[in-house]
Amino acid sequence: MIHRQIDVALGERSYPIYVGSGMTASLAPTCRQHGIPDRVVVLTDKNVAPLYLAPLLKNLRHFEFDVTSFSLPPGERQKSLQWASKVFTWMLEAGVGRKSAVIALGGGVIGDLAGFVAATYQRGVPLIQVPTTLLAQVDSSIGGKVAVNHPLGKNMIGAFHQPKFVWSDMECLRTLPAREIVSGLGEVIKYGVILDAGLFDDLETNLDRVLALEVDAVLRVQTRCAELKADLTSRDEKESGMRIVLNYGHTVGHALEAAGNYRVLNHGEAVLLGMIAESSIALALGMISQDVHDRIVGLIRRVPLRFRANTLDLTKVIKLMSHDKKSIGGKKRFVLPTRVGDVQVTEGVERSLIRSSLLSTFKLYTSG
Ligand SMILES: NC(=O)c1ccc[n+]([C@@H]2O[C@H](COP(=O)([O-])OP(=O)(O)OC[C@H]3O[C@@H](n4cnc5c(N)ncnc54)[C@H](O)[C@@H]3O)[C@@H](O)[C@H]2O)c1
Ligand SMILES: [Zn+2]
Repeated sequence: MIHRQIDVALGERSYPIYVGSGMTASLAPTCRQHGIPDRVVVLTDKNVAPLYLAPLLKNLRHFEFDVTSFSLPPGERQKSLQWASKVFTWMLEAGVGRKSAVIALGGGVIGDLAGFVAATYQRGVPLIQVPTTLLAQVDSSIGGKVAVNHPLGKNMIGAFHQPKFVWSDMECLRTLPAREIVSGLGEVIKYGVILDAGLFDDLETNLDRVLALEVDAVLRVQTRCAELKADLTSRDEKESGMRIVLNYGHTVGHALEAAGNYRVLNHGEAVLLGMIAESSIALALGMISQDVHDRIVGLIRRVPLRFRANTLDLTKVIKLMSHDKKSIGGKKRFVLPTRVGDVQVTEGVERSLIRSSLLSTFKLYTSG
């Protein structure tokens, strides 16, 4: 059932995000309603395919879509030009023409890769995002940022390509490994800190219910996050201004991910730690009080993140931060909290402060 429809207002590129629970049967009719071409390609990964691909294909075929699918191995490593190229070859060999659409069925990796494929295949074909992880449902499937990684940096090759709609079914979360729920909570908590004290309060009260995947708690949080991301996207589609606030926790987070070669920490886990470190920076700069810092750290610490600090090399993390593409003229830009629900972009943070903030963050995760 569709619980809520949230609209991303972008003129002729506007689109809805459907949030709900148990919605597979309505996907094909919704495709029809949105004028999706008959020829549809579903891109997914080998973890998601056995769980969700067959019912989706059956539903689309029942409504007379001509649909084929391609499953990639799972994982961030597949978000590459090499894999995009393999998909292009397969699509060309299969005779997929311009009058076709791509469905991204999977987490953020598939969403970003399939989105990149849709943005560039024969100069662009329609895209439908069917996110199956919490992170993808609250964040990556919304906003049109699509990309693959380059050996020299994450998301370095990409485009803006808005989907025709986003299909966010929380029932998919039931098969998700616990670690991926933790990862999604990284982005969820981020929304609370950067934009919405009410969401943050809700999480303080109901985090355990969200972790237990109680339907109403999850749908409420998902809906709120989708609304916030939709609103930011509407106001700053190409990330030239205020959408930068989404980068809270990410300046440090991206470096943490990369330092562990994307194996020690996944994206959302790295963002959880990045938010602690960046909150420490804000505290040291006098931008937030100890109280606010304690609330942020307190909520993040309740998320069952499995990480041991000795698995990452701190010097490497700091070195990697100088490659962050959000830096302008070599200066690192941080999005730092000023209270719960508000942030400010800050430049010129001393290296020594970055180091000490990382150290204090790592200290919280030295045992267990
Ligand atoms: N485009 C954006 O705006 C944006 C925003 C945030 C993150 N991202 C990107 O998103 C990616 C991370 O996405 P992610 O965390 O979803 O990772 P992911 O896509 O790798 O999915 C995590 C794991 O869960 C598996 N999986 C997915 N759905 C499942 C389900 N329902 N049941 C069981 N297993 C399932 C996947 O196979 C994978 O092993 C990163 O590449 C990041 O850069 C993009
Ligand atoms: Zn993120």
